[in-house]
Amino acid sequence: MSTKVYSFSSTNEVAQGLDKLLAHLSSEAIARSGRFTVAFSGGSLPATVAKYVKHNSTIDFSKWFVFWADERCVDHSDSESNYRLVKEELLDHVPIPAKQVFAIDPTLLSNSAAAAAEYQSQMVAVFDSVPVFDCILLGIGPDGHTCSLFPGHPQIEENDKWVVHIDDSPKPPPSRITLTLPVLNHARTVAFVATGAGKRGILREIIDDRNLALPASHVAPTNGSALWFVDHAAAQDLKIN
Ligand code: 6PG
Repeated sequence: MSTKVYSFSSTNEVAQGLDKLLAHLSSEAIARSGRFTVAFSGGSLPATVAKYVKHNSTIDFSKWFVFWADERCVDHSDSESNYRLVKEELLDHVPIPAKQVFAIDPTLLSNSAAAAAEYQSQMVAVFDSVPVFDCILLGIGPDGHTCSLFPGHPQIEENDKWVVHIDDSPKPPPSRITLTLPVLNHARTVAFVATGAGKRGILREIIDDRNLALPASHVAPTNGSALWFVDHAAAQDLKIN
């Protein structure tokens, strides 16, 4: 596993860096396997990721397979939906075939356990065994959560399932589904995106101190890379500075 921190002077430059990364990973993956598998988180990430990517004519979006690293159990049209965020920021602007977009089943929103199991079965149809994503895009919460893996919650202990549910998320809404650490740690590339001074303390705890009470500290792809795309405000307390 290798970890690298890329620190930029603004969110805009972070977005440009992510554009270069995704263009590179996408063409590499398509040359290797004929497709690019990617998972998105919610929060501020989709807008930052999509800003330049959606205008990048070198990317072959017809080969993209899009999943969500975590999703809230709300309707696809709800303002809290991570599907909706990624759709509005990216999917509405680029030619990814609808059959290659894997969203939470909207008929299972009142049963998060069933929604998680169904989401895993969508992944089984695409990946032969434990998914090896070409890229998983992750945000970081101020408490050190990533995906919907929260400190002190049992989802972080999961060793077998690829997708699990949570009904008491400290960050609203309470019901969610999330990829598990085995999936995150099988990825070829995990790219964390964190901007703003509000993230400076937690970044130091994860990257420099590797505080294992924080779920994000457990993300270390066995045969892949963990990359951090951060701005100087978020990176200001890191030793690399
Ligand atoms: C969610 C997210 C979550 C998010 C972080 C960071 O759906 O809530 O996937 O893990 O990525 O909370 O969010 P910000 O980038 O908005 O700070």
